[in-house]
Amino acid sequence: MDVILAADPQELARRACGLVMTLLSDAWDGRGHARVVLSGGSTPRATYRLLAEALLSVRIPVGSVTWFFGDERWVDRADPLSNEGMARSVLLEPLGAPERSIRSWNAGAGDPVECARAYADAAAAEMPPAGVAGPDVVLLGIGLDGHTASLFPGGTVRLPGGVRLPVGPDIPADAAAVEPEGSRGWRLTFTRRMLERSRDVIFLATGSDKAAAVARACRGDPGTPAGWIRGRRTRLLATPDALGAEMPPGAAAQMPPGAAEIA
Ligand code: 6PG
Repeated sequence: MDVILAADPQELARRACGLVMTLLSDAWDGRGHARVVLSGGSTPRATYRLLAEALLSVRIPVGSVTWFFGDERWVDRADPLSNEGMARSVLLEPLGAPERSIRSWNAGAGDPVECARAYADAAAAEMPPAGVAGPDVVLLGIGLDGHTASLFPGGTVRLPGGVRLPVGPDIPADAAAVEPEGSRGWRLTFTRRMLERSRDVIFLATGSDKAAAVARACRGDPGTPAGWIRGRRTRLLATPDALGAEMPPGAAAQMPPGAAEIA
């Protein structure tokens, strides 16, 4: 996993936006379309704001991007906790993304297991055949415990037919419902089987409180979901405090060739 340093959260947002813009431009030029999987949480908000401005200023037709959400809380999208609601507010609405381009989990009503199954089926139907890269760009955060999306260490997923499995790299589905635990309610999440099909996975991490989880993720720790979620190409954009003293060898301070930076 390539590590790209950003001096502070503002530079991280600029670098993340520049990288996503480069990847979207490549997707548009090469395939005329891009599938993006958005992360929830607080870290990506600044990136999303810049991305909306950047996309409005370039030639990529807004309707040429399909927006997925890597995971969702079991709430309506109007709920302040909703990942979709956050992305709509800071990115998709300012961008004017057409409703037909937004793939909602439709969380918060009905049965979480059925909801995850339906999202998995719908996403898989939009992806190229197996063996061909699926999502073009996936943005992911890293939790203090090393979770990513809603793949929580020690969590339990529930699949159709009442199947219950520990959160792990081999869940036999593209998406799953994650059972409530403590104060955390039901969650919905893409699994490794879907996310590993991605051309580019970009982890975003800031804050010294993330350093231990980020180090485990960089090492590929099997007990850390962010350690076993990889795309065909995987990068970590992080501020120095999130890398802590265990700066992985080869932490690159430069963006990949050609990646634009948002001024
Ligand atoms: C969510 C996210 C989750 C998030 C991490 C980091 O639903 O909250 O999908 O995986 O990315 O918890 O969150 P922060 O960016 O807020 O630290």
